Amino acid sequence: MKVTLVSRSGREFIKGGLELHDSATVADLQEAIYKRTKKFYPSRQRLTLPVPSGSKERPVVLSYNKSLKDYCDGNQNNITVVFKDLGPQVSYRTLFFFEYLGPLVLYPIFYYFPVYKFFGYEGKRVIHPVQTYALYYWCFHYFKRIMETFFVHHFSHATSPLSNVFRNCAYYWTFGSYIAYYVNHPLYTPVSDLQMKIGFGFGLVCQLANFYCHIILKNLRSPDGSGGYQIPRGFVFNIVTCANYTTEIYQWLGFNIATQTVAGYVFLVVATSIMTNWALAKHRRLKKLFDGKEGRPKYPRRWVILPPFL
Ligand SMILES: NC(=O)c1ccc[n+]([C@@H]2O[C@H](COP(=O)([O-])OP(=O)(O)OC[C@H]3O[C@@H](n4cnc5c(N)ncnc54)[C@H](OP(=O)(O)O)[C@@H]3O)[C@@H](O)[C@H]2O)c1
Repeated sequence: MKVTLVSRSGREFIKGGLELHDSATVADLQEAIYKRTKKFYPSRQRLTLPVPSGSKERPVVLSYNKSLKDYCDGNQNNITVVFKDLGPQVSYRTLFFFEYLGPLVLYPIFYYFPVYKFFGYEGKRVIHPVQTYALYYWCFHYFKRIMETFFVHHFSHATSPLSNVFRNCAYYWTFGSYIAYYVNHPLYTPVSDLQMKIGFGFGLVCQLANFYCHIILKNLRSPDGSGGYQIPRGFVFNIVTCANYTTEIYQWLGFNIATQTVAGYVFLVVATSIMTNWALAKHRRLKKLFDGKEGRPKYPRRWVILPPFL
């Protein structure tokens, strides 16, 4: 089978194209491209079918486990494929590991080390119990997320662009330092003992609920890594589509009730708006996938995320 490879501008990408056996899969084509170019490894490649010029249709993305013949449309021995370089990639595990490692390492620095000397505070620092519990709570949260990344989540996408590592690390590392600075500050004023206990107690219950939500999501995927989406059911998922984001938001609320800083609440607002946008997209995708037509199940009536009661 002859495969002609063109760039998105229509220029020939590999001179003379590639010759593959008739039963070749998209994965075989990706390997052949890598072998020839020595640069574009499979996860860097986005392969699509050409769309007629002027058409507003979205191009069909070639799925790596399908046979090339499935895309040939009658002409069995010749296919034109559009190649796009997605840029350097990293695994999702690497991305998540680095974004969570920052807050896990940076926060204790503000607690244990005399960093405030560099900000002009020379006096002796008195550590309040809430600051110690906040440290444990924070570290438990990010340690849990790293463990979930390696041992719980079954990601459907193997890799993410390298540039996302810098963007996501900037987000988590900056917010981590910002909150750590204020919660551990020598002039920090603690809340009442009761408020602290309510905040941490509630937050901890939500962290455990969040872990349980991730176990439910993990069990929706078969361990062979075949991906695909199912209707999440059980526990808080019976009420909201993104129960994991809901419990994540509430556990940050618990942390903020206990520690009460502007920095913490700013993070809560930003994280809530990010997760709400993602939740809306996930809810739309599940409703589209499970539309109740042609034997497909119908997605049940559910909130998207709580709050803000969408
Ligand atoms: N503080 C913050 O700013 C913030 C922001 C985002 C996330 N988080 C935390 O990080 C956790 C993970 O975030 P995430 O965005 O990766 O969560 P997510 O997309 O909702 O899902 C976590 C895992 O479950 C899979 N999954 C989700 N819905 C599924 C379905 N219907 N059927 C089968 N599998 C499904 C996902 O697969 P795919 O790989 O296909 O997506 C992913 O591997 C969140 O739950 C939250 O606790 C915090």
